[in-house]
Amino acid sequence: MADSKGANPILDDTYTYVCASSELEEDDLIEFETGEETFVVGRGEGNVYAVEGICTHAYAELADGELDGTCLTCPLHFACFDIRDGSVLEGPAETPLRVYGAIEMDGSVWVSTKRG
Ligand code: FES
Repeated sequence: MADSKGANPILDDTYTYVCASSELEEDDLIEFETGEETFVVGRGEGNVYAVEGICTHAYAELADGELDGTCLTCPLHFACFDIRDGSVLEGPAETPLRVYGAIEMDGSVWVSTKRG
């Protein structure tokens, strides 16, 4: 991972470099960790989004699921979340996912560890 944020004021200290934009194609999911938190970053309908990486229903890594547009489907029991706001679109999960700030800039994807 790169550690240079340049002098861009939008990228404060809460942002972490995730990947090059070219590595995150439409409907791709990438997992990354900072400290004890796991995130999943996805590109849906052209935009990048970040949510917590572990399903709120039971233990499943959401990066192993599927993103179709903005619907993130858990690989274990197939709950569906809206990756834009973390809301549950279809059970069995009942609790929304935490949402984090995600920015695409100068060919790179960055995620804030601060909740969006
Ligand atoms: S663990 Fe994700 S729906 Fe059950």
